[in-house]
Amino acid sequence: MKPWLFALPLLACSHAAPPPQTAAAPAAPVRDPLAAFETVRVVLQSPRCVNCHPVGDAPLQGDHGRLHQPLIKRGPEGTGVAGLSCAACHGKENPPASYGAHEPPGVSTGWRLPPAAHPMVFAGLGSAALCEQLKDRERNGGKSMEALIQHVARDPLVLWGWSPGYGRQPVPIAHDEFVRAFRTWAVAGGPCAAPTAHNP
Ligand code: HEC
Ligand code: HEC
Repeated sequence: MKPWLFALPLLACSHAAPPPQTAAAPAAPVRDPLAAFETVRVVLQSPRCVNCHPVGDAPLQGDHGRLHQPLIKRGPEGTGVAGLSCAACHGKENPPASYGAHEPPGVSTGWRLPPAAHPMVFAGLGSAALCEQLKDRERNGGKSMEALIQHVARDPLVLWGWSPGYGRQPVPIAHDEFVRAFRTWAVAGGPCAAPTAHNP
């Protein structure tokens, strides 16, 4: 179990029995935004998200990041290249479970990778690099912290990770816990851990 999870029951109880106020005590227990970011990171780097946020210009498939079969290219807008667009196979919703596994999933807003201008690579980054990129408006498609919160809370591409279609594992952390952790990090100004050799 991750160490910060142990802190949750304490936070939950603090309303019932407020600690005696002393000069040294903080006014209220605040969940550590750096710990919250580690929860965010587990989600961003889970297979459902990484497969669309890969290194390079080809999407990935499955739980171990194998290259998409057939080999597919991002194209400038992320929707593929002429003659082989994502929409040729990926529809507006997941196919019914009765079709079985290994069917191309779909979302209402159109299946695609991020555009070539800001590919938003999540795969393989250390905590510090992932954190810096996420909040960098030059690299995140011009999104403010509030826009990022809205994106992770509501965007159909993100929500798909929790209903990915027959035969695929959903993201391993509940969506509301992810959004809560994202908000904790974002409202604290999006602090990033200092890079270390172990976690660049
Ligand atoms: C089908 C491909 C696809 C999947 C799956 C996907 N994303 Fe994305 N993601 C995109 C695209 C495309 C964009 C760019 C959207 C835009 O700029 O409007 C994006 C953008 C983002 C952004 C904002 C940064 C930016 O460039 O706008 C975040 C944060 C994000 N995705 C998180 C996630 C998370 C978390 C998951 C998994 C739960 C996920 N994505 C799954 C395609 C995907
Ligand atoms: C020729 C048909 C075809 C085209 C074109 C195509 N895909 Fe796929 N895609 C599939 C199939 C089939 C699967 C399901 C594979 C499986 O589950 O084993 C899939 C799965 C995926 C997955 C994996 C989902 C997961 O988490 O396992 C991603 C990501 C993906 N496609 C992205 C794209 C993107 C982005 C494009 C366009 C740039 C695209 N695909 C174009 C057929 C296609």
